[in-house]
Amino acid sequence: MEKEAENADQEHPMEPDKEKEKDHGEEDTESDNEERDEEERESQRLRDKKMERRLRAKERREKRRQVISLLRTIPYSDHQRWWSADTIAMVTGANRGIGFEIAHQLALHGLTVILTSRDAAVGEEAAKVLQEGGLNVHVHQLDIVDPSSIQVFTEWLQQNYGGLDILINNAGVNFNYGSDNQLEFAEQVITTNYFGTKNIIKAMIPLMRPNASGARIVNVSSRLGRLNGKRNRIGDLTLRHQLEDVDSLSEELIDKTVNTFLEQVKDGSWTSGKWPQTCADYSMSKLAVNAYTRLMAKMLSDRPEGQKIYINCYCPGWVKTAMTGWAGHTSPEDGADTGVWLALLPDPDHEIGFYKNDENWCKESSILNWLLQLNFFRREYATAIAFVAISRLLGKFETNTE
Ligand SMILES: NC(=O)c1ccc[n+]([C@@H]2O[C@H](COP(=O)([O-])OP(=O)(O)OC[C@H]3O[C@@H](n4cnc5c(N)ncnc54)[C@H](OP(=O)(O)O)[C@@H]3O)[C@@H](O)[C@H]2O)c1
Repeated sequence: MEKEAENADQEHPMEPDKEKEKDHGEEDTESDNEERDEEERESQRLRDKKMERRLRAKERREKRRQVISLLRTIPYSDHQRWWSADTIAMVTGANRGIGFEIAHQLALHGLTVILTSRDAAVGEEAAKVLQEGGLNVHVHQLDIVDPSSIQVFTEWLQQNYGGLDILINNAGVNFNYGSDNQLEFAEQVITTNYFGTKNIIKAMIPLMRPNASGARIVNVSSRLGRLNGKRNRIGDLTLRHQLEDVDSLSEELIDKTVNTFLEQVKDGSWTSGKWPQTCADYSMSKLAVNAYTRLMAKMLSDRPEGQKIYINCYCPGWVKTAMTGWAGHTSPEDGADTGVWLALLPDPDHEIGFYKNDENWCKESSILNWLLQLNFFRREYATAIAFVAISRLLGKFETNTE
């Protein structure tokens, strides 16, 4: 019995172990399940948060849209109007899209507008639409990448108008829709958007008329060309910093950057070159436009009173035009609005202290970002922001670099 008991005892000790194993097994499964549940809850929490952020962003956008539509109805007051019917504004690529709308809105504000178009006949047709509405719009052929066309235009402008007060560089091309990235036309894109814009700035600056309120240049650019975009940016940090820092920025550096990109597109090595990966050619062309705008702002900043030239660039948003295949969520009217507003700023040299201490916003990307969002604020609100943006661009405040 005892033996049996012993045996039994000996056997019995096995039982609790099995039980333990079994218990542990169950505990493991239970804790696995708990972990899985917790993970699921966590990812659900993250999804909810993301959704909440999206909803909040959507609400903010909607509010901004409402503010814009309200502000659009406020006319400039007499004391804000520094321009008159004698003020000459020219717009490149104005036969259609955003350029046409900029020409239209400037003419509605009472300026004399020169609508330019690379196809003379198409330009005539576009101008006729505005002229028939009683607007003071003139037309001339201008291909921004053709030196002889630029020369003919320059002479015509000088002879007939004695110069100009406002230049809107709007002409541009893009051959990619959405996030496509074919680079077959990279050279044309960079040549038109960057070198063409530069050609016109260089040709027009000597013709810009002295004016107590300063002459204006507005470059229609794109958010895709931001230096510090989260996803679509130059991966080479040193180059990015050089392009960002207005002290190390030079025309040679910008030209070299786009030319290196183009060489790599040609020899097929561009994918390893840390270039923007969405609409790479277009993004690079607009990045160059933005950098050149900042460079010119600095170079133009020491012109004497009465001969000031204020230069800025902005992104019109994603606009329903031929360029986007009429996709996008902004009308050409809305896309044009910020450009017109920047061109007509009543007092761009005015300092507003409120934003002076904000460490972030004066970075190039932030300015673009703000200007992108200016479609919201316009006038009163936006004036405050852009006055300081322009003052900073003109070197009135220390430029903040990362
Ligand atoms: N649409 C958008 O979502 C969007 C977003 C950001 C920035 N942008 C910028 O906004 C500007 C206007 O674009 P859009 O959307 O209004 O496009 P669009 O309807 O395609 O208009 C582009 C204009 O540029 C002209 N152009 C092209 N190459 C030219 C050249 N070598 N010389 C003179 N004119 C030339 C075109 O003339 P033709 O009619 O002869 O081709 C056309 O008038 C561009 O700079 C574009 O990069 C647009």
